[in-house]
This record gives sequence, structure tokens and C-alpha cells, in this order.
Amino acid sequence: MLSIQQNHSLKAYNTFGLNAKARYFIEITDEQQLQELAQTEYWELPKLILGGGSNILLIDDFDGLVIKLNTKGIEIVEENEEEVVVRVAAGENWHQFVLHTIEQGWGGVENLSLIPGCVGASPMQNIGAYGVEIEQVFEQLKAFHIQKKEFHQFKNKECEFGYRSSIFKTSVKGQYIITSVEFKLSKEPVLNTSYGAIQAKLQEMNITEPTVKNVSDAVIAIRQSKLPDPKEVGNSGSFFKNPVVTEQQFQSILKEHETMPFYRLSEDEVKIPAGWLIEQCGFKGKQVGNTGTYKNQALILVNHGNATGQEIWNFAQQIQQTVQEKFNILLEPEVNKIGCN
Ligand code: FAD
Ligand code: EPU
Repeated sequence: MLSIQQNHSLKAYNTFGLNAKARYFIEITDEQQLQELAQTEYWELPKLILGGGSNILLIDDFDGLVIKLNTKGIEIVEENEEEVVVRVAAGENWHQFVLHTIEQGWGGVENLSLIPGCVGASPMQNIGAYGVEIEQVFEQLKAFHIQKKEFHQFKNKECEFGYRSSIFKTSVKGQYIITSVEFKLSKEPVLNTSYGAIQAKLQEMNITEPTVKNVSDAVIAIRQSKLPDPKEVGNSGSFFKNPVVTEQQFQSILKEHETMPFYRLSEDEVKIPAGWLIEQCGFKGKQVGNTGTYKNQALILVNHGNATGQEIWNFAQQIQQTVQEKFNILLEPEVNKIGCN
């Protein structure tokens, strides 16, 4: 039986804590329900697929059908002495899945500990942190084609993964519902502790020969010290992507800002932290009405309590404009904006 609710508040379903409403709302607990739903008149409505709601900005009420994926299950599909392939249902909590892999001693996703949200959304923007992106462990996924009403598989290359990007955010945007994801993990983990902050934390913990659990603990500690907990302050993590500029543009900014942090991607491409650019424009910790940036991280926009999505978006645009005027760089939102404007 499908249970569809009307005028359902989404406040508990988005980490900004925005009080937008869904015209219709349904929680899906297995793939068959999705196929059933596709046979109903509700399927013709505009749809919003929801995992943990930790990467969306609800500008307004959603005048359509919100489908919250709550499917569960983690199963081994292939295994040998060195590797294991696990299939994970879209509705599984990402961090709980990471903890499960660590309990098993499997390596590959420990650097991605404590990222909020669900497994089904992880390929959407190829989630990444501390030197690792899921692209590196992603095997394939299964997705339901909304128009054709049939399941398709996507292998790693077919997902066209990039920095905070995949085919699901570009050429096939809005066409698929991801229902499960397979990851290939290692039973003989090679740890990635190249990130300075991880090395420093492991040293502080007096660990010289780290395990996957140690790396995960270090990442959790770093994240807890830097990022606001959405349960306490509404936010969606980094609001913008870190921009990539040409060597020429980089040099011209560097001339005036010698201490600017940066990551070189190639001979002609340099990534500049958006948080630094925003801080240079005087926005760090700034509050405007019910919104603002986080006091320790200017890239994180927050809801101080009663913000609306529109208010946050207006503030985000003000940041975009100021950064553009000062540095001639257009910041691109990472967060998925749902609604108009
Ligand atoms: P949602 O917000 O529910 O959805 C995101 C988008 O994907 C929406 O457009 C939605 O419609 C679509 N979608 C969701 N599920 C599906 C599905 N099954 N099929 C099709 N479309 C779907 N991200 C990082 O990459 N690295 C970080 O370090 C990081 N840190 C964060 C820290 C904090 C405090 C917060 C709040 C967020 C952070 N994020 C980070 C962003 C976010 O956690 C990730 O993007 C996460 O993968 C979003 O998952 P979700 O289930 O909450 O997605
Ligand atoms: N910085 C400032 N001022 C600020 C914020 C940052 O000067 O207000 C500087 C820092 O001093 C540092 C640099 O910017 O030198 C980078 O900052 P940080 O290490 O905090 O990382 P980030 O680039 O802001 C990215 C991801 C995060 C991910 C971390 C760790 C993006 C858009 N964000 O943040 O992902 O967790 O690196 O790998 O790529 C997310 O996507 O939601 C997210 C949180």
C-alpha cells in the first residue's frame, strides 16, 4: 500500500531546517513500491527525490511529489582475498555505511566519514573529502528511469564523475532515481593520509601506524572541530564549489594576496578555496537577518533559526556578486537549489 501525505512539512527532511511544504510526500521502502508509484497519476507531477536533504536549498514550498528514499540493505555481491564489492540501498545513511565498512576492516571510504546524507545521493556530486572521492571506489549503480519506468545500470565511466559532479547533475539531470550503489573496497587497505590535517591529527593522537579506524576517527575529529552540526545550526555544508582558475588569473590574485591558499591541479589550472575568497570579502561570521555564514568557515551558509530558502538564496547571491566584483570569479553553488529564481 502506498501512503501519500498531503501538505507535508519538509523541515525535518532538510539540514537547513527550512520549513517548506510538499504538496504530496511519500516514503519509499523498496524498489517495488517505486514501480507501483510510477503507475499512479502522481507520477505525472514534478518530482523531488530526497535522501537526507543535506545538499538542497528549498527556495519555496514544493508543488509536486516529494519521494523520500528509505530503502535499506547492505550486501556483499563479490569477494576474494583482497577485495569486496558491496551493494548498498539508496536509503542507507552514508556515515552508518562507512562505520560498517570500518568494522569489517575494509578500506576505501574512511576519509569520507561523517558526511551527512544517504548512499543514493553519494554519486550525484561524487562526494569527496580529505583527498578521496567516491569515484575511486565506485563500481556501478542501479537507477530507475523516470520516463521509461525501467531500471538501468551505470558503470563508473558512464557516470562521468568530476569534482562535485556527475552525469546525474549534467546531461541526464532529473531523469533517474538512483536505487542502489556498489562499491569496491579493499581488504588490504592502502591508507590515504596525504591531507595535512589528517597527518597532524594522527600525530596528536600518537598514532604512527594508522588503521582504517584511526583514519576515520581522525577525520571525524577534524570535521567536528570545523563544521557546524546541522542538528544545532541549519546548514548544507559548503554552499559553493571551490573555483578553478587559469594560471594567469591565479598569478594576478596572488600578486595582491601573497598568503592565499591554493591547490595546483595542472600546469594551467589552480583551485582556490571559496571560503578564503568569501572571507576576504568580509563575509566570515556575518549575520544578515536570519541567515549568514558560519563563524569558523565562510563557505558554509547557515540558518540562524527562522530563515526562508529565499532569504538564504538572496544572501548567497550577494556573496556571489561581491566575490565577482573583487576577484572576477563567479562562484558556482554546490547546493542543489529547489524552486524558482
Ligand atoms: P539530498 O540533499 O537529499 O539530495 C541532493 C540532490 O540529489 C538533490 O538534487 C536530490 O534530488 C538528489 N538525489 C538525492 N537522492 C537521490 C537519488 N537516490 N536518486 C536521484 N537523485 C537523488 N559533501 C561532500 O561531498 N563532501 C563533504 O565533505 C560534505 N560535507 C558536508 C557537511 C555538512 C555539515 C553538510 C550538511 C553537508 C555536507 N556535504 C558534503 C554535502 C552532502 O552531505 C552530500 O552532498 C550528500 O551526498 C547529500 O546526500 P543527501 O542524501 O542528503 O542528498
Ligand atoms: N579558508 C579561509 N576562510 C574560511 C574558510 C576556509 O581562509 O572561512 C581557507 C582555509 O584556511 C584553508 C582553505 O580555505 O586553507 C580550505 O578550507 P577547508 O580545509 O575548510 O576546506 P574547503 O575547501 O572549504 C573542502 C570541501 C569540503 C570538504 C573539505 C575537506 C568543497 C566545496 N568543499 O572544503 O566539502 O569536507 O574540503 O576535504 O570542495 C561539502 O562539499 O559540503 C564539504 C563540506
